[in-house]
Amino acid sequence: MSANKIRVAVNGYGVIGKRIADAIAVQDDMELVGVADVVSDWRIKVAVEKGYAVFASTPEAAEGMSAAGIRVSGNLDDLLTRVDLIADATPKKVAAVNLEKYRASGIKSVFQGGEKHSLTGHSFVAQANYASALGRDTTRVVSCNTTSIVRTLGALKNAGLLKKARGVLIRRATDPWESDHGGVMNTVVPETGIPSHQGPDAQTVDPDLDVVTIALVAAHTTSHLHSWSVELTRTATKEEVLEAFRSAPRIAFLRASEGIVALNSTLEMMADLGRPRGDMWEVGLWEDSLTVKDREVFYNYQVYNQAIVVPETIDAIRAITGIEKDGAISIAKTDRAMGLVREFVRLTDKLAM
Ligand SMILES: NC(=O)c1ccc[n+]([C@@H]2O[C@H](COP(=O)([O-])OP(=O)(O)OC[C@H]3O[C@@H](n4cnc5c(N)ncnc54)[C@H](O)[C@@H]3O)[C@@H](O)[C@H]2O)c1
Repeated sequence: MSANKIRVAVNGYGVIGKRIADAIAVQDDMELVGVADVVSDWRIKVAVEKGYAVFASTPEAAEGMSAAGIRVSGNLDDLLTRVDLIADATPKKVAAVNLEKYRASGIKSVFQGGEKHSLTGHSFVAQANYASALGRDTTRVVSCNTTSIVRTLGALKNAGLLKKARGVLIRRATDPWESDHGGVMNTVVPETGIPSHQGPDAQTVDPDLDVVTIALVAAHTTSHLHSWSVELTRTATKEEVLEAFRSAPRIAFLRASEGIVALNSTLEMMADLGRPRGDMWEVGLWEDSLTVKDREVFYNYQVYNQAIVVPETIDAIRAITGIEKDGAISIAKTDRAMGLVREFVRLTDKLAM
């Protein structure tokens, strides 16, 4: 580490990688040394425009980038000699091959949810298991849906309310930038197996969770919707359940009464709030429709799949490098630097004025 800053690179400058790069760039204890990819079109040219040093992940990529007029700072091996840690956001399967390379170079690595738990032997959600990642050489930030499950069920568990949880996940068909490539249209496709992988995946972070998920893919690109039915340990009031969610990091409320009635309204609000790329890093949980019936609670929330794992990745970097030992401090630091909130629109503050 140089001058108390962790030197970090991002390999795979796609949907997740470009957001991780921007998030690293705004942390005062991290330095973004460069980004690496294999493409030479607009996607990596934007990184050049932002002033990021661009590296070629393969020899063929170096040729393509040079031919496209991109100033290439070096290859992946060069990049690995200049950093303490690499955040790998390459597509599924590519990343698995990279781990050996990172280990051979003696640098730490953070992977994403497309990889299996077995690749790293540790799966990460900051508020659940930051401490167990301290000092490891690698971890995997779980997928967008799994992150949301661990955040929300973890909140109920910490409040002593969680018995068991059953959730239905309506997933987006594809990401917006690639919706010309393919994606289901005019239909809804249930996964052929139940449970879907997200429930068991959440148990790789917290084995105590009694959780079953059912997933289906719908014909839209605007993020995921979860509908949950949770059995509580005891009878509780709606306010107690809301307070459990309110007390946990990275969960913020949406309200139909404020006109946030669907996935698209939330995303419009994020864009209007001036968030980078219109990102929502928090779980957006509908406050007004949350319903408690004796020992059961029912609720819906929205997962902005393209962004929710980005703050977790920043915390994972701090945890495995050990630059911050306390998870709560890292979460607060990340959230302050990126601009996460507890309320999207602060009506109560305005009323008090
Ligand atoms: N898209 C999401 O909603 C989402 C959400 C959470 C987690 N994830 C996970 O994040 C990871 C990345 O997914 P994504 O959606 O950002 O994918 P993506 O396809 O948008 O980006 C991957 C990037 O890696 C680059 N790449 C391909 N081969 C490479 C190689 N050999 N070396 C270096 N770069 C290479 C691609 O050009 C692309 O820019 C996956 O594990 C995925 O499961 C994705």
